[in-house]
Amino acid sequence: MHKRIRRLVRETRLSVDDLLYPLFVRPGKGLKIPISSMVGQFQLSIDYILEEIKEVEGLGIPGVILFGIPERKDEMGSEAYSDDGIIQRAVRAIKEEFPDFLVITDVCLCEYTSHGHCGVVEGDQILNDPTLQLLAKQALSHASAGADMVAPSDMMDGRVAAIRKALDEQGYSEIPILAYSAKFASSFYGPFREAVESAPQFGDRKSYQMDFANGNEALREVRMDIQEGADIVMVKPALPYLDIISRVKEEFGIPVAAYNVSGEYAMIKAAAQLGWVDGEKVMMESLVSIKRAGADIILTYFAKEAAKRL
Ligand code: PBG
Repeated sequence: MHKRIRRLVRETRLSVDDLLYPLFVRPGKGLKIPISSMVGQFQLSIDYILEEIKEVEGLGIPGVILFGIPERKDEMGSEAYSDDGIIQRAVRAIKEEFPDFLVITDVCLCEYTSHGHCGVVEGDQILNDPTLQLLAKQALSHASAGADMVAPSDMMDGRVAAIRKALDEQGYSEIPILAYSAKFASSFYGPFREAVESAPQFGDRKSYQMDFANGNEALREVRMDIQEGADIVMVKPALPYLDIISRVKEEFGIPVAAYNVSGEYAMIKAAAQLGWVDGEKVMMESLVSIKRAGADIILTYFAKEAAKRL
């Protein structure tokens, strides 16, 4: 058989249009600090972020999602919703230089709280409802800095509705919500927590993130987020949850994003460095499989490398 026939019958095509690149922004100037467990990823000060965006834009990647490392962390995560916070400043700087570039912001408190939890803490409890107000405030401050879409990753119940209401009331009704809807309590987030120094100081995130053994529950979470106003829903992590991506796409038919998280990236990078797998090939196979499962959008630290190959 002529090998070109394979081209004609290929079912899944990965495109640069499917990719979003996560970036870590930190205070300071001239800083590009390597994240040891995520080879090729860095904490970047805003000047370097702008250089990075130029490259990402040049590669044709549609946008980035920003994570912040604040100047200081406190009990209430106050830099998360300060107009002068690291994300708010970064978004303004990007928008000034690249007004047409797509900037998505992660909405969550864990990067900003001293205890590392995604919500307000009382004793050893994470309080759902008092957290909603802070998340809405954070989303609003991102939108007013110029963010094009907000992505709540905290997993508090009711946060999509709270954020939607706050955005609508303040004149940001056209800003969509990308909801981390099926977010599992996963050990694959380990390297990310090193990157943003957000490992919980006590307990774990199992009271608000999902049990990885549960698929039907994931569908219920997604359904609730859609009812509350999510425009795009996300499954996270990606590779161990391809079944969930597929079920969500089939059941709801709405745009589905998948987060190919830090641990998935780190494993491939580490094995490739040891010469145990062909890193590029494993990367492409992984990304195509996420797409084949039904994801429309893939958030991945591989975005630049994949874009160069596509
Ligand atoms: C929470 C958040 C996390 C990630 C994205 N948003 C970590 C967590 O829930 O502990 C993980 C992403 C990754 O591992 O790449 N703000």
